[in-house]
Amino acid sequence: MEQYIINGGKPLRGIVDIYGAKNAALAIIPAAVLTEEPVIINNLPDVSDINILLDAIAQIGATVERINRHKVRIVGAGVHTHQVDFDYISKIRASYYLLGVLLGRFHEAEVAMPGGCSIGARPIDQHIKGFEALGAQVTISNGTIQAKAEKLEGNHIYFDVVSVGATINIMLAAVMAEGNTIIENPAKEPHVVDLANMLNSMGARIRGAGTDVIRIRGVQKLHKTEYTVIPDQIEAGTFMFAAAITKGEVTVTNVIPKHLESITSKLVDIGCDVEEFDEAVIVHGCEELQATQVKTLPYPGFPTDMQPQISVALALARGTSTVTESLFENRFKYVAELARMGARIKVENNTAIISGVKGLSGAHIAAPDLRAGAALVLAALSADGTSTVDDIHYIQRGYEEFDEKLRALGADIRKVQVEENKKGEIKAV
Ligand code: UD1
Repeated sequence: MEQYIINGGKPLRGIVDIYGAKNAALAIIPAAVLTEEPVIINNLPDVSDINILLDAIAQIGATVERINRHKVRIVGAGVHTHQVDFDYISKIRASYYLLGVLLGRFHEAEVAMPGGCSIGARPIDQHIKGFEALGAQVTISNGTIQAKAEKLEGNHIYFDVVSVGATINIMLAAVMAEGNTIIENPAKEPHVVDLANMLNSMGARIRGAGTDVIRIRGVQKLHKTEYTVIPDQIEAGTFMFAAAITKGEVTVTNVIPKHLESITSKLVDIGCDVEEFDEAVIVHGCEELQATQVKTLPYPGFPTDMQPQISVALALARGTSTVTESLFENRFKYVAELARMGARIKVENNTAIISGVKGLSGAHIAAPDLRAGAALVLAALSADGTSTVDDIHYIQRGYEEFDEKLRALGADIRKVQVEENKKGEIKAV
């Protein structure tokens, strides 16, 4: 087991380079096996969710060649089964994109029910509605989802809720369906657009990704491509908030500032200064952050995946803030950990009421999920004294070299190996 040991109180300063978007790559990797021809993907983040998905497509017969840490060549010609029943794949949410892909390519798919961070019930009714509209029969039994279609036919699909996962899954299945598919009320996140661009570079005909209506004209075959994943909006946002929380100054490079607008706007609201360039932003922290109101919303609203990070900033701001989580019902699990560091936060239904304090103090805390884990690290970086962060495997699912990057910005953070003895005591090894 690994832990971070953090001595807080140092403002972060310097330049950090952002890697490829995990959530875009999680859709683009399965998309690569829609064709038998080779697909090269650049700018892949080297994080555990991505590596698990690469293993999964290798296990169903794709050839996966790691050209270097951030570049992979995938050949889907050898895919020989429509069943993905490995236990470990159910741990990552995006495993269910293989449903859309295998249904699109073989008209039949069987995939373990998805897992991912336990931030809420995370139903998949909209995915099922979409697959059924395309002509598939969907059943769930023994922890797996099966989808089967005699013939996949384009259709008009209206999503009752805006879902990133359902939008991506239906796009993956519909690109090779017969005729036209129209998706109304789709998610508009940058990674939805990135997947559409990647599929179009393989010969798909998708128009309108990033708008209120996506139109897909089915094609019979897709072909080879080489594609570069967009930069990670949430990794960038996390380092932007790191500057605010530690009262530092961080230049975040290799980003698309347009994707960061809602994050930038909130940083300005709370008193930071943000300079924008073509592919970089500089966040200048300030002596005293100000309270604000935030509500998480689908893109272009403030991302739910940035909710814990902004809450840490507001825990240190002057005045009372509210943070309303409108997507996932279980996304405030980190509040108890922050309280142990001295934060004053009360959660009522889906809203956190945060009374800012002057400073936090170091504590022994545990990451409850990926983004909350990163946010707690930022809290520890700002705190007086030493903090120990357990369960950092959550953070490693989505942040490559998180501690290395923070150290390069001047943070005092170490990753240590520890083992737990039978009494539940933890000691360094
Ligand atoms: C994706 C992201 C996750 C991010 C989330 C919202 C990936 C791998 N994960 O998750 O990091 O937090 O988008 O930006 O890209 N819903 C339904 N029925 C469905 C599907 C979703 O009711 O069939 C609801 C969910 O419970 C949630 C909301 O829709 O309240 C949004 O979920 P969705 O956009 O699907 O999130 P994910 O794709 O799981």
